[in-house]
Amino acid sequence: LVLILDFGSQYTHLITRRIRSLSVFSLCISGTSSLKSITDLNPSVIILSGGPHSVHAPDAPSFPDGFVEYVESKGVFVLGICYGLQLLVEKLGGEVKVGEKQEYGRMEIEVLKESCGLFECRKIGDKQMVWMSHGDEAVRLPEGFEVVARSQQGSVAAVENPGRRFYGLQYHPEVTHSPEGMATLRHFLFDVCGVSDGWTMTDVMQEEIKVINETVGTEEHVICALSGGVDSTVAATLVHKAIGDRLHCVFVDNGLLRFKERERVMETFEKDLHLPVTCVDAVEQFLSKLKGVVDPEAKRKIIGKEFICIFDAFATDLEKKTGKKPAFLVQGTLYPDVIESCPPPGSGRTHSHTIKSHHNVGGLPKDMKLKLIEPLKLLFKDEVRELGKILNVPVPFLKRHPFPGPGLAVRVLGDVTEGNALDILRQVDEIFIQSIKDAGLYDSIWQAFAVFLPIRSVGVQGDQRTHSHVVALRAVTSQDGMTADWYNFEHKFLDDVARKICNSVRGVNRVVQDITSKPPSTIEWE
Ligand code: XMP
Repeated sequence: LVLILDFGSQYTHLITRRIRSLSVFSLCISGTSSLKSITDLNPSVIILSGGPHSVHAPDAPSFPDGFVEYVESKGVFVLGICYGLQLLVEKLGGEVKVGEKQEYGRMEIEVLKESCGLFECRKIGDKQMVWMSHGDEAVRLPEGFEVVARSQQGSVAAVENPGRRFYGLQYHPEVTHSPEGMATLRHFLFDVCGVSDGWTMTDVMQEEIKVINETVGTEEHVICALSGGVDSTVAATLVHKAIGDRLHCVFVDNGLLRFKERERVMETFEKDLHLPVTCVDAVEQFLSKLKGVVDPEAKRKIIGKEFICIFDAFATDLEKKTGKKPAFLVQGTLYPDVIESCPPPGSGRTHSHTIKSHHNVGGLPKDMKLKLIEPLKLLFKDEVRELGKILNVPVPFLKRHPFPGPGLAVRVLGDVTEGNALDILRQVDEIFIQSIKDAGLYDSIWQAFAVFLPIRSVGVQGDQRTHSHVVALRAVTSQDGMTADWYNFEHKFLDDVARKICNSVRGVNRVVQDITSKPPSTIEWE
């Protein structure tokens, strides 16, 4: 295991992903975790991440007492990156100061030592471009440390103390702007630390199946709410592979789904994945509760509550049928939702788990008796897609854009039951998405959808004045949904789509495009 201690850098998770991309298992925990949390994981390599702090700040985060003694006694290799390097230098008796010249962005470094632990087969004087982002710098190294590369401005860029297995990089090898960064990580992990690269998704699948079997045993029943999204589908498929038909899934049609979505996802669940799934038609139940409700948060709450009611009823029915209360609940929680991060100062975040609450449609009831099974909780989204492929989930299904739990309710602004807003939105959305697919753009876009606006505008159609609905088109690029930029379609594409929508969807006479990024907007409109 390569363990990353997070000191708040925006790139920390990238380090984890980069190492996993070398087929090496890596985990990330807060840099201020207890010594026990670190020793329990028994890592062979520990990477100290960057971070926005200065090591001299009163609230500067640091590894726990006893850390240095532990790594030295166990022979654990330690690599400090940026703040991590400065922390190592400071804690081991060197000196870190505010740099005379700050180094932000692209910078050339020069290698000063042949065959060191960080650069493979380098000649003295070799140069490479790297990405720097620091104000402080190491001005005096602890005893036994050696500078193995300097920046073009003369500051320390890489250090090592091979005897004590300590290494440090002042720049960020994990970002693509350091083109040789991956080669450096590869050389360090494989050639210096002797890490082996056997971590594959097939192993993950087998290991998870083993864990699920041990947890559930041979008698208990498990339930799962399928949303039609990638995460819950892959989680359910994995659990089904482990325990077979003691898994019982429920898919709820709440009337807020996209065009023909119920038919499409049910076909995948049943025909492709053979999942035991009950489809509950709850259209009336949801829409009657949402009638007249315009406040976005009130809408979300109502939807969450109804989901839980349906879920409870499903569990009760199941108990009647099988004679056994279901004991476990499967959730498609992913790693980014449970990672404990070291928050930057002033961010207002605490050290607690940063769980995106609105990503669980209704949250879980406080008095829930079911125990959770979260087989994807150590995986990133792209890893879940890879696992899905191994589990034979159809690739187009795995590539579907994210869809919010409250569905079209957050895309019909105001009262969702007003007129035929939902129907209009479904038709417009289908035309937009199909056009994107036909143009071969679907996989380059993080999320695309239409929004129904609760206003009418004047138009002229067939020599007659109309007073019809306005719809907005939204398409964004993003890495993780936390920030996003609007997607720049060609004019012809937009022209064709707008014309198609107005010509084929009755009641729409105006199409607008949303060209704001997140921030300041959000991806959804409510
Ligand atoms: P925002 O609109 O916050 O969306 O920029 C970020 C990502 O989260 C999705 N989203 C939701 N997902 N329940 C969900 O399960 C919600 O209430 C919800 N609101 C937004 C959104 O579609 C985007 O992918």
